[in-house]
Amino acid sequence: MRPIFLIGFMGSGKTTLAKALSRATGLEYIDLDAYIEARFHANVSEIFAREGQDRFRDMERRMLHEVAEFEDVIVACGGGTPCWFDNMEFMNSRGLTVRLDASHERLLERLKKGRHRRPLIRDLDDEALGAYIAAELERRNPWYSRAEATFCADRLDSLPQIQQSVKEFTTLFNIPCKS
Ligand code: S3P
Repeated sequence: MRPIFLIGFMGSGKTTLAKALSRATGLEYIDLDAYIEARFHANVSEIFAREGQDRFRDMERRMLHEVAEFEDVIVACGGGTPCWFDNMEFMNSRGLTVRLDASHERLLERLKKGRHRRPLIRDLDDEALGAYIAAELERRNPWYSRAEATFCADRLDSLPQIQQSVKEFTTLFNIPCKS
């Protein structure tokens, strides 16, 4: 089976859903940020601070090309992955791309909690974070909208919600689950 690439804004639930899908289907799960961190022995914030965003995007592209070679994997991309180079076209040519869509309220709620480990938003207060999400989502939409499919990721905030979303995702995309 060709890779499934989950794309979408920070906080859209790519990692949460990929992990849960992996447990349910037996497909391997790869978090692209974690893959970069393991390869370059530094976390994403350190890479941004030491080397700058352009260098991070270059690493991200190289690691994306590497994981795209794997079979039977679900790749949770970084929020910016589709928006640099020809990454979106590349993913579309290599596997199934699914955009996770969550409402502004959900993104804000999740990112208020998770902003400290994300270099692009770590220094924003709640108000600035809300404005950043609105503006950046609009800027990124042309790339995100090139995904082959869209999946609603508003309900990933409790175990029952995650289980239900996994059921819907596997049914929608015809992915067999472990018995
Ligand atoms: C980024 C999203 C992050 C990470 C980096 C940049 C972005 O991944 O790749 O901080 O540009 O949206 P998550 O979407 O997993 O937070």
